[in-house]
Parts: sequence; C-alpha cells; structure tokens
Amino acid sequence: MQLQVHRGAIQDFAADAIVVNLFQGVTHPGGATGAVDAALGGRIRRLIAAGDFAGRLGESLVLDLDDGAAAPRLVLVGLGPAEAFDLERVRRASASAVRAALARGASHVASIVHGAGIGGLDPTAAAEATALGGLLADYRFEVHKSKPDARSARLTRLSLVSHSVEQLPAIQAGAAAGEALAAGIGLTRDLANQPANTATPSYLAEAAAAIAARHGMQVEAWDRARIVAEGMGALASVAAGGPEEPRFIILRHVPAGMADSAPRVLAGKAVTFDSGGISLKPGLKMGLMKMDMGGGAAVLGAMETIGRLALPLHVVALVAATENMPSGSATKPGDVVRALDGTTIEVLNTDAEGRLVLADALSYAQRLAPAAVVDLATLTGAILVALGNGAAGLFPNDDALAEALLAAGDAAGERLWRLPMWDEPYADMIKSEVADIKNTADSVPALAGSIFGAKFLERFTRYPWAHLDIAGMAWGEGRLPYQAKGATGYGVGLLVTWLRGQAVRPSGAQPAGVRPDAPDASSDEGSGTPAPRGL
Ligand code: BES
Ligand code: MN
Ligand code: ZN
Repeated sequence: MQLQVHRGAIQDFAADAIVVNLFQGVTHPGGATGAVDAALGGRIRRLIAAGDFAGRLGESLVLDLDDGAAAPRLVLVGLGPAEAFDLERVRRASASAVRAALARGASHVASIVHGAGIGGLDPTAAAEATALGGLLADYRFEVHKSKPDARSARLTRLSLVSHSVEQLPAIQAGAAAGEALAAGIGLTRDLANQPANTATPSYLAEAAAAIAARHGMQVEAWDRARIVAEGMGALASVAAGGPEEPRFIILRHVPAGMADSAPRVLAGKAVTFDSGGISLKPGLKMGLMKMDMGGGAAVLGAMETIGRLALPLHVVALVAATENMPSGSATKPGDVVRALDGTTIEVLNTDAEGRLVLADALSYAQRLAPAAVVDLATLTGAILVALGNGAAGLFPNDDALAEALLAAGDAAGERLWRLPMWDEPYADMIKSEVADIKNTADSVPALAGSIFGAKFLERFTRYPWAHLDIAGMAWGEGRLPYQAKGATGYGVGLLVTWLRGQAVRPSGAQPAGVRPDAPDASSDEGSGTPAPRGL
C-alpha cells in the first residue's frame, strides 16, 4: 500500500476512483466538489435535486464517468450536517468512500482531504483522519483463509489530492501520521485476531522484538523461570495451569538524550486465552477469549506508531502475557499468592486473572519512576453491562491525567467514560479475611464489578495512574466503516494522541496528568500507601 499526497485538481487526477464529499442539505456544492460538479456539467447538483443523494454521514454514491474523464469512477460521500462535523466524521466518511470504491473494483483511490476546505478543520488533522479512515477501511484478517475474499478489491494506493499549495506541507505531515496510526492499529488488530494457538505469549514477545528492531527500541522478555525468580507470584499463578510459557515483556522507546526523563508507561493485560482456569467459564462464546490480550496488543500497536513517528518522549511498554488454563497444576480458588510488591492476594476466583497479571506489571512500573502509567485491559464483563460498546471505562487516581485521557479519547474517536474510584464505599470491597486483599467479591450478585477490579489495581500504584477497562471496546461486529468484524484496535489512537500531547508543549509548561518530580521508586516500594500527588 502506498499513501501519497499530490497538488492539483481532483477531477484531473488519474486513479481508479476519485472521492469528493458533500454536507447534508447542500444543494450547490462548492470547493473541490463544486469544481467536479462544474466539470461534469452540473451532474452532482442534478443528483441532489432529484433526491438521489442527500449527504448523510456514510452515504455514498459511485458514478461512472465518461471516457474523457481522468478517472473512470467518482465516489460521492456524505459528511452529515455541517454543524456536527468533526474528525471522527472525517474518518468515517473517508472509510465509507474507500469501501464503496473497493467494492466497485478500484484499487487506486484518490481523495480530497475531507474537512480541510469548507469544513474548516485543521488541515493536518483532516489529512490524518482522511488517511486513517481510508487505510483502515481496507483492513482484513485473512491469514488463515485458503483463498482471500474476492468480493472487493484491495487498496494498493491512496492519493490525497489538494489544490492548495499552502496546505501541502500540513497535509503531508497529517498523511504520514495517519499512515503511522493505521500501521499500529493494524498490528493491534492482527495480534488480537490471531487465535490463541498462534498468538501465544512468546508470539507477542516476538512481535515486541520486531517492533524494537524496526525502531531502535530496547526489548526484554522474561520467561516463566525469570518471572518466578523476580517474585511475580501473581502473574506466575495465572500461568501455572498450563505448559504454555508466559512472558513479561518490557519494550522501551528512549529517544536520544531522554534516558533520564521520567517515562510514560503503558501496561497491557495480555491473557492470550482466558478459559477462566479452575473457575472455568461456560462454553458459550469461550472462543472469544482469544481476544483477552487486547490490552497488551493495543500497547504494542501504540509502540509501533510511536516508533514510526519517532515520538520525542520516553515511553515504556509493559505487557503481561500468559494463558489462563485449568489443570492439576493450576491455581485453585482460595489459594494465596504473593505479588511482586509483597502484597498477598487471596485468589477466590481464578477467572479474575487480569487483575493478577496487572498487579505485577503495575508493581514493576514503580521501579521506572514513571511520570504516569496507563493500563489497558479487557478486565471485566461488568464494563459491558455498564457501557456496552460505547466507551471504555476510565478509572484514574489522578484528575489531570483523567482529563488528558478523556480529551485524547474524544479527539481520537476512542471514547472513555469516567467511573468513580471513591474509597468510601469501594476500598473495603477488596479486603480479605486471610490475605492482604482478595481478587473477587464473594457476594452474589457481585456489585460494581468493574470498580472492584480498578480498586484492586490501585493498590499497586504509587504514581499518577489510570486504568482503562476495554472489555467492551476491543472486539466488535464491524459496525463502523473503518472497522471489520473482530478486533478493533481500540486504544492505539487514544494512547498515541495522549502521548503526542505530552511530547509537544511549550517549554517549562507542566503537561497534564504528570507530577513535577517523580520520586525515586525504589525508596517507597512495597508500602502500599499512595504518595500525595503533587499537582
Ligand atoms: N477476560 C474477562 C473479562 C471479559 C469479559 C473480557 C467479556 C471481554 C469480554 C475477565 O478475565 C473475567 O473473566 N472477568 C470476570 C471477573 C469476575 C470473575 C469477577 C467477569 O467479568 O466475569
Ligand atoms: Mn477471566
Ligand atoms: Zn480475562
């Protein structure tokens, strides 16, 4: 796939299909669409007048053009009402247009930059969103198919065409960012779509090593013996049920001269298959639990994008990867295990394993003296009850970090919704009779299941931190034009948008969600009491 930016008039551009757009309710199109309409002798205006095209968001119409035209096809795509227009609508419109073109056999698609003209959006952001939507529309997971789906063409070239000389550098920058994001999201989708017999913990470690090799990052992957030797008893207890080797993956992006800066840490739950363990899940849809590594996959995808962007920020990814299987060697309900920071945990339900693997990852993060830590996890079914597929749950211990993540999620079209983390009444839920804490409530029905998980994780954090419960967002039915059925890649856009905001800021200004001086973690490790947050 090639992504290119060209200066010129879209109606003169030679491609298999050219794409222009229309706001809902417009009867006399202006800008590039108006120029195409004029070149076609008013054909677009007549279609609108006849009621054949209204400009609703996602609506698309493919027109065959005369032999004299530079391209054989024109795709007209709706942007919806001008008042509601934003970058998410650009992504969706661009994806709808590319899908329509591919369905008609076009493989080289040329598009105007939706929103950069009359739409009034920042041209860099508009180009990024146009490129991202268009590229993601072509995503498929077909590696296990003997024959690829021949019903539509594959995108070989996406050309962004603008008549504006002044906007060209901005569009070029936006296109490159969109391409970097599409690559990271594609990587996340591939990892999460892979079945559990392919995407094992060691496979994820190899994927991390490949990212490191491509972008000059540092990588380490601890095996079972090392995980046990280091004292990661919580992660090891989840891995105990099966022969598949767990991995604790540490992937570091350290730009020149930034080794001493406090890193932003991305931690991911990567349970490559969650059977529930001895607390076995019912068979119905158990196969879906191959996606229980969606958090870890998002963290790796974000690192791929960060590498491609050469982001000037110290970022460390931690991926806790294991299967959760039942067997004679598996952890049993009632067992007590010891996390890396010394906290003892009563494992009342082996199906609440995500919080166990993250307990060790979050404890490890303390050693990095982080500026901020964000974890992503398909942690609870309860977050699906609360939020469905509309947003991931946001559970922060820090207001400024929460605000920064909420804004990044809105900008990226990957929404978050904040839930409460009050100590009263929630802190008491995790108290155990026999150990420091327990991993599930023993009451039926369980109350506030997602908050329980978050309060459990909070025990292991003594730095600005936020937990994102992405169980409802990592997998989908392909209802958006830039999503296929299966893994969504949720989290990559949000993380990268947040980190870009942390990297570029006026000198001397304090970035949102970060305390001025991260303390030396080794000094207070294991205390379990949150340090005051100096914001
Ligand atoms: N991986 C699941 C959560 C999940 C559910 C992810 C649906 C994606 C879709 C997690 O490990 C789990 O099993 N959670 C339990 C926790 C319970 C035992 C306290 C749950 O949600 O039922
Ligand atoms: Mn589980
Ligand atoms: Zn799980």
